[in-house]
Amino acid sequence: MKLPVAELHIHLEGTLEPETILRLAGQNNIDLPWPSLQELRAQYNFSNLQSFLDLFYANMAVLRTAADFQEITTAYLHRAHASGVRHVELFFDPQAHLERGLALAEVIAGIRAGLDAGLARWGITHRLIACFWRHAPAESAMEILRTLVQERHAIDGIGLDSSELGYPPILFQEVFAYAREHGLHVVAHAGEEGPAEYIVQALDLLKVERIDHGIRCLEDPALVQRLVKEQMPLTVCPLSNVRLRTVDTMAEHPLRRMLEAGLKVSIHSDDPAYFGGYLDANLAAVIGQFELSREEQAVLARNSIESSFLEEPAKARLCAEVDAWLAAEHL
Ligand code: ADE
Ligand code: ZN
Repeated sequence: MKLPVAELHIHLEGTLEPETILRLAGQNNIDLPWPSLQELRAQYNFSNLQSFLDLFYANMAVLRTAADFQEITTAYLHRAHASGVRHVELFFDPQAHLERGLALAEVIAGIRAGLDAGLARWGITHRLIACFWRHAPAESAMEILRTLVQERHAIDGIGLDSSELGYPPILFQEVFAYAREHGLHVVAHAGEEGPAEYIVQALDLLKVERIDHGIRCLEDPALVQRLVKEQMPLTVCPLSNVRLRTVDTMAEHPLRRMLEAGLKVSIHSDDPAYFGGYLDANLAAVIGQFELSREEQAVLARNSIESSFLEEPAKARLCAEVDAWLAAEHL
């Protein structure tokens, strides 16, 4: 039995595997600067967040139709199912696709069709979260958010992603207020490359329900105390942190210290096609590095479920499955 988990930090566009990128490029007549698998793979050496984002945004050009979005969503869910994922809260970047002339309705229809297929085939429940680029003006985010709300597009929440340094959460205060007023869930990347102060801003000004990454909170003891007291979820992505050099090695990853501090951390995959593995590989990396006991693994799984936007009965059912997984050890 696989440990049942909720995947709460996963960018759909980050599940585009190199083979899929090249196949879709051929299918949709897109010229990529790296036409062979070998040349494409040679680009996957990142020095920081921005060096990854440059490749990530360039590769998205191959996504053109609702069918493309449906296909990659279904492919991701198939792989997630094999990792023990029972519930997913999927991020996508509307600005990336609007910029290329795609219609929001088409993008969302494709993703939703994939999510529905995942529910029917593997019983994976879902939420969909539109992430806004912090490197783009807040006016752009606001305009798209108004359209999403007014045209009643099927999203459950908003997030904030892309280049962090130099783009503090305060820039997006109005966008997040509007989202909350319209009943949307709110999350934000903060404290990945940016300072602990950005986490404080995300909490105080954006009033987020979860912090994505948040690993730099450890630099501010008062903030750690507050995050523990509020049991604010932090969605940690270990392979991403190492590949983007926010930590030098897995041995230096702060996960163990975060758990010991009593922070509500859970493990996720961020952009698995870029960082060397899906949720199971991220869990395996930290289990191996920090010799996590089965009880500690169950804590991470329960945290993921409790930090999700599922209703309470669904959370209770999944947590009971975690308990069953833990008990199975003694059979
Ligand atoms: N978009 C996709 N992955 C991201 C990450 N790790 N940080 C910020 N923006 C992202
Ligand atoms: Zn992310």
